[in-house]
Amino acid sequence: MFRSNLIFNKGILLMALLLGACSKKSGNDTELPTPSQDELDASVLTEYFGTNIDLKNLGNYANQTIPFYITKRNGTVASNAKATLGRVLFYDKNLSTNNTVACASCHQQSSAFGDPNLASTGVNGTTGRHSMRLINAAFSTETRFFWDERATSLENQTTKPIQDHKEMGYSGQDGDPSLNDLLVKLKTINYYQVLFKSAYGDAEITEARLQECLASFIRSIQSFDSKYDTGRTSAPNDGAPFANFTALENQGKNLFLAPPQLDANGVRIGGGAGCGGCHRAPEFDIAPNSGNNGVIGVIGGGIDYTVTRSPSIRDVVKVDGSSNGAFMHNGFTNQLLGVVNHYNQIPIASVTGNSNLDPRLRPQGNPQNLQLTQTEKDALVAFMRTLSGTNVYIDKKWSNPFIK
Ligand code: HEC
Ligand code: HEC
Repeated sequence: MFRSNLIFNKGILLMALLLGACSKKSGNDTELPTPSQDELDASVLTEYFGTNIDLKNLGNYANQTIPFYITKRNGTVASNAKATLGRVLFYDKNLSTNNTVACASCHQQSSAFGDPNLASTGVNGTTGRHSMRLINAAFSTETRFFWDERATSLENQTTKPIQDHKEMGYSGQDGDPSLNDLLVKLKTINYYQVLFKSAYGDAEITEARLQECLASFIRSIQSFDSKYDTGRTSAPNDGAPFANFTALENQGKNLFLAPPQLDANGVRIGGGAGCGGCHRAPEFDIAPNSGNNGVIGVIGGGIDYTVTRSPSIRDVVKVDGSSNGAFMHNGFTNQLLGVVNHYNQIPIASVTGNSNLDPRLRPQGNPQNLQLTQTEKDALVAFMRTLSGTNVYIDKKWSNPFIK
């Protein structure tokens, strides 16, 4: 390889001589050639990222394979260069006022881009809600983000944590620096000069560009190598038994997908648990019409009826089977069985005064009572455990690119 490089360089030199491009040179053959702009740029990137980022050989973010049965889509990955820049932004602590917190501090690859802590630590305290896993965010029809869906798009979402007083601190209020101050700060960082030029053709840094790149990186985070996907690939549809599933997993799949059959009081006498009406297969994204699910507690106390969104419930467990919880906006349980117990019998307190509660969880006006047997609960848990992949936890293209 070294040898062919030499030959290649000689060829370039000869061509340059022929074209007269060396006319500025003093004629001293031993003088080193001035490095090109590309070489200078590459050396800036090497200093911060080692071999993790190579502009001539970018990771594949924009053209990944997506299974044929995945049809829901919410936005695209703009380009590999923009997603690569998004990766750097995502892991860069410079995005916080005191240079200690990155997006990745609260969205860790080893936890499916969630946080193992109940509340996440930002520059000025801890968050009021549990952090959300960022898996398959692009594969849904719901276009709003956050537990309460207050962000109108993923782009809109991405600069909110930067501007949150507690999280990253650039709120522009009460003495905090503003987002504009951050843009000025990023302009002084040499690797951003190189990366913005590579992504956009010029080094201008704007909020819209930060949003496009961060959203592209997040949309690239996809997980489709689960046991469920293996089964789904060779089954005619979700309802058919999956050949690679245990009997318990297939039972759990049926329970998850089918709506419950209820008596006149809204008590389940047959059918499934109705999960799939809101967490829709095969993406397991949240249905846009989903209401509140009756989890109304708040970390540290209080009541919150506003939560109507869930991240995809893919990757609720890690590769070793341990929990990617805590689950729900208040992280009230770390166990999938705890989740199932909640839906099995929605507490009366979740219904009274909660006009946001989804009507499906209040049949005939009564809190849902599924009367699930222990085996049925175990089956639902077993099924949810099949929704986790492997690659998303280890693929380097989503990992921390910084070497210092
Ligand atoms: C201090 C911890 C913390 C930091 C830093 C942080 N987040 Fe979050 N993130 C959270 C929490 C907590 C939530 C849920 C908040 C809510 O819904 O009120 C969240 C929610 C999200 C969501 C919504 C996911 C969904 O499915 O609706 C996205 C996307 C996201 N964060 C991306 C980012 C990006 C991009 C950054 C960096 C610019 C970032 N986060 C920085 C804690 C953090
Ligand atoms: C009416 C819609 C609806 C139904 C039906 C429903 N869910 Fe949910 N689910 C939600 C919402 C909304 C959230 C987020 C709630 C929160 O954080 O407070 C959620 C959260 C979850 C979570 C936690 C996700 C996370 O990232 O923390 C799991 C797991 C889950 N549901 C599983 C189930 C199962 C299993 C069933 C069936 C027994 C079910 N859901 C039925 C709407 C629904």
